[in-house]
Amino acid sequence: MFSDKDTAHFANLETPFYYYDLNLLQKTLSTCADAAKVYNFHVHYAMKANFNNRVLEKIRATGFGADCVSGGEVNKAVEIGFEKGQIVFAGVGKSDKEINDALDQDIFCFNVESIQELEIIDELAAKKGKKTRVAIRINPNVDAHTHHNITTGLDENKFGINSWDLPLCAETLKKCANLEFIGIHFHIGSQITNLDVYKNLCVRVNEFAIWFEERGFVVKVLNVGGGLGIDYHNPDGQIPDFPAYFKIFNDFLEVRPNQEVHFELGRALVGQCSSLISKVLYVKNGKKKNFIILDAGMTELMRPALYQAYHKIENISKSAEVVVKYDVVGPICESTDCFGKEVELPETLRGDLIALRSTGAYGEVMASHYNLRENVNVAFSD
Ligand code: LLP
Repeated sequence: MFSDKDTAHFANLETPFYYYDLNLLQKTLSTCADAAKVYNFHVHYAMKANFNNRVLEKIRATGFGADCVSGGEVNKAVEIGFEKGQIVFAGVGKSDKEINDALDQDIFCFNVESIQELEIIDELAAKKGKKTRVAIRINPNVDAHTHHNITTGLDENKFGINSWDLPLCAETLKKCANLEFIGIHFHIGSQITNLDVYKNLCVRVNEFAIWFEERGFVVKVLNVGGGLGIDYHNPDGQIPDFPAYFKIFNDFLEVRPNQEVHFELGRALVGQCSSLISKVLYVKNGKKKNFIILDAGMTELMRPALYQAYHKIENISKSAEVVVKYDVVGPICESTDCFGKEVELPETLRGDLIALRSTGAYGEVMASHYNLRENVNVAFSD
């Protein structure tokens, strides 16, 4: 829901643009921080979801750490002022340069995704005369029951070290003098709305923690990743149920004294705080279909084209007197450049403003220049 003040503000801005509601972001962050504090859980923000500076600054100010997946993200986290001791670096394909740079930054930990990567980090740390902390990302073969393309914790996925490789992983860790093992890491997928999935994850985390302990390792950190979903159908002021989410981990994880539980939340923190605002360029009324052609396309918001993701579509210039069904499409030369089919909207005219809701996560960051499109604009609530 946008206020009259918002829509008056939008009328003066060049479309398309991502609009960030910083108040909602702040409320979401505070709710999450308060809920995590109850159990003394540590939250790292998964920066891949959104690395807009204003958004990052608020997240840093909340006291969260940063979960990065590239050298670029590590550098950005440092630049924004995240504490180096709260920066973790994950990813299946860290380059030598990225590893060297992160070693120079003395970040908290590398989440390591293969045995070969362990050996390379050890070798590069040795060359620098450093010892660095590592957590082992384990692929727990837990089904996240989410969209196939955003599932990461099954045997068939490329992420993490599979359970049958753990004996070799443990042997390698013992040989690597420049690595300090600090714990185990998991991330089974994104947009998880069935919280029972996390109970299954906890059972596996407990098993793997014991497995390492039995082999003489001290498991100081249990990093259970992120993935908490948001309600794309009800974007207005929605804050995910962080207390219920954290309670599951409190109830089902066996946490030893002195053990820390870490989370890497992305979407749940930033998903609802932004909408993509676009202008109607043309309305084409056909025999079989009516099309609304927007000035935003898959180049600004890729998720519908890539994952058939749903984003609520609203005409914010009109209220519903006559309702018409439209296919809402972008200007890009691809048939998948479609935000929604048979969407019921008030009768829409050229020049109306259309909001695509819940675009704070994996929206602006996934924009591209395909068709030589320009950078998407950005606006804030203050
Ligand atoms: N940790 C790791 C290791 C990850 O790979 C991810 C996301 C996260 C944490 C944060 O997950 P979240 O809490 O945001 O679900 N582009 C896709 C989502 C890809 C997620 C990739 N990994 C989308 O638009 O739905």
